[in-house]
Amino acid sequence: MELRHLRYFVAVAEERNFTRAAQRLHIAQPPLSRQIQQLEETLAVQLFERNSRPLKLTETGKFFYSHAVQLLAQTAELESMTRRVGNIERSLSVGFVGSTLYGLLPKIIRRFRDENPTVELSLHEMSTTDQIRALKDGRIDVGFGRIRLEDANIRRVVLREEKMIVAFPLGHPLSLSKPVLALRDLVNETLIIYPKTPRPSYADQVLAAFQDRGLKPRRIYEVRELQIALGLVAAGEGMSIVPSSVYGLKRDDVNYKELDDPTLVSPIIMSTRMLDESRDIREMLELIYRLYEEEKIPYTPRVDRGR
Ligand code: BEZ
Repeated sequence: MELRHLRYFVAVAEERNFTRAAQRLHIAQPPLSRQIQQLEETLAVQLFERNSRPLKLTETGKFFYSHAVQLLAQTAELESMTRRVGNIERSLSVGFVGSTLYGLLPKIIRRFRDENPTVELSLHEMSTTDQIRALKDGRIDVGFGRIRLEDANIRRVVLREEKMIVAFPLGHPLSLSKPVLALRDLVNETLIIYPKTPRPSYADQVLAAFQDRGLKPRRIYEVRELQIALGLVAAGEGMSIVPSSVYGLKRDDVNYKELDDPTLVSPIIMSTRMLDESRDIREMLELIYRLYEEEKIPYTPRVDRGR
């Protein structure tokens, strides 16, 4: 059995159709069917149920699929890490969730480029969930997200915990009330949360904050991203709970207020492949801590193992 067989099998299992799988693999359908047949003969098992439309995996096929996917991810990781270890090219692909752009991300990137002019740096906006898959596939080398997703192959470092604040429309009665708000003050408002998909996301951190305190917002409005949430806040559609760095946006149609509970925080998490100890990753982490020191930003460095 060769890696090619695994790639072909995974494509057919995911597309559940030989024609679509062949298109995805850029090969003709007859050789693809032959390869799958050959694989079944080599293993002496049936991987797909005969004559099922769309194609269905047998129980053995499901077992084989879950392991084949892992093996392919490990292969991609091995390729990317070996290239980096061999220094054939110095490059660093960074995945980030949109809200980190309002924090230190722009400064970090500019400083990293200044200090490492020979490293080819690329940036990719993606959710924390997508970052984990992209790390394992070798499409990115480091991810900055906000969700604690457990994975044995991923190392997570919580860089700092950002306070959550409330964004509400200009002139709203709450702006005239207390200087600092409690979540309880917001339950009769519409709560605008983001991102709607994929889940779990920052939206679930906000919902959990209410649930943990036995509170239920009157109405929840789920939107795609932070900018849309803020736009709707400005339009008077509701309130949104955002990380405090968003305050830096200083929209003149949105007011912000602090929350009274210091445990209402959203972490900024750096994720890397568990075995990747390359110089670029080390330098990126050192640079971040240096910036925290320079800017007097409180941080709590610690390593969360994948499990
Ligand atoms: C920060 O704001 O602390 C931060 C943002 C993106 C990446 C790393 C740190």
